Amino acid sequence: MLVIVRRCVQGATSRIRAVAVLVTGVGYIGAALATSLLDDGVQVVGLENGYCTPLAALDPLRTSPEFTLIEGDVANPTDVARAMEAVLALSADPPVVYHLAAQPSAAIAVRDPDYTERANLVGARVVLQAAKEHGLTVVFGGSFRVYGDEVTGQTITEDTPYGRIGDLAHLSKLYVEQLARTIGGLFVSVRLGVVYGLGPVIKTDPPFMTVPNVFTSRAIRGEILEVFDDRPVGFIHLEDAVQALLVAADFAEPSDPWQVVNAVTEVVTIGQVAQHVQRVGQAHNTFVRVNGASSEPATFSVESRLPDSGFTQSRSMGEALGAVWDYFAAGPAEPSA
Ligand SMILES: NC(=O)c1ccc[n+]([C@@H]2O[C@H](COP(=O)([O-])OP(=O)(O)OC[C@H]3O[C@@H](n4cnc5c(N)ncnc54)[C@H](O)[C@@H]3O)[C@@H](O)[C@H]2O)c1
Repeated sequence: MLVIVRRCVQGATSRIRAVAVLVTGVGYIGAALATSLLDDGVQVVGLENGYCTPLAALDPLRTSPEFTLIEGDVANPTDVARAMEAVLALSADPPVVYHLAAQPSAAIAVRDPDYTERANLVGARVVLQAAKEHGLTVVFGGSFRVYGDEVTGQTITEDTPYGRIGDLAHLSKLYVEQLARTIGGLFVSVRLGVVYGLGPVIKTDPPFMTVPNVFTSRAIRGEILEVFDDRPVGFIHLEDAVQALLVAADFAEPSDPWQVVNAVTEVVTIGQVAQHVQRVGQAHNTFVRVNGASSEPATFSVESRLPDSGFTQSRSMGEALGAVWDYFAAGPAEPSA
């Protein structure tokens, strides 16, 4: 189901105008974003500490002379200052900062709350303050989970209030959004749905994987897909997530510096994700068993301002999971975080 609804059209808008950008957290989404920007001739400075993306995974990006990797921690003001200086030196126009560095896993947040707080809270504060000091726009990797898990039957707009959130990794998204409001620099939170699909960095360690990728890899190993909580979830393909982040920079508005946009292109229940994987299995002559998928799926709707800035959905789960199947069937060498 296409759920992004065009609420008003304000005319065509361009993609990013900056000739240099800073990407904090060059992981699953950040590496795909960096690749897309480099393909468009934009110079990219990446700030990454290797927490859950081995730095060797960034070697393909490092072959580009337009890519600079700063090995460092977003919670360390000296590292952030080095990264900001590096990107400011590249461009007379104010660069955009894509702040994606975080500990994103709810499960790991339970095991390691200290690291999660340091990366997600302290790191965000350091980045937001440094960006404000230099007058730079921050596009933040926010989460659709800020609306909480009890959204069935509702239509979610950017004006829908925050909901109840039970884990630190996602709770930190509210903190960052509200901190940005307090600090007062140019800020756009892109409230991303669960991201799936293939990119330059693929996670194979389950706590860092999202459900479409996890189900596909399990199905290939011959495991039954167990659906324990068959609720609807907002999803977006990695390519569309990158596009959403890019066009989100256009929402930066000095007269109204705090902006949020929803970035969800499909609402799919966990059971339906399993059934998508089952169909991909059939196409590959593999029987995939699914337990617990509801026969009456619940849903919700999402409205977004993203199409106002030229965003259109390009990928859907039904067609995109075939490539994910092929990737995991080919067997990534070793599990990597
Ligand atoms: N993947 C999703 O489904 C999804 C959905 C909504 C929001 N988001 C958010 O988007 C952002 C990127 O997500 P992702 O899926 O690419 O996750 P990811 O874990 O692949 O990327 C985050 C990167 O940040 C790095 N990092 C962690 N701590 C750091 C630190 N202190 N200093 C520097 N780098 C650090 C990690 O090593 C990793 O490479 C995260 O903030 C995440 O919460 C992701």
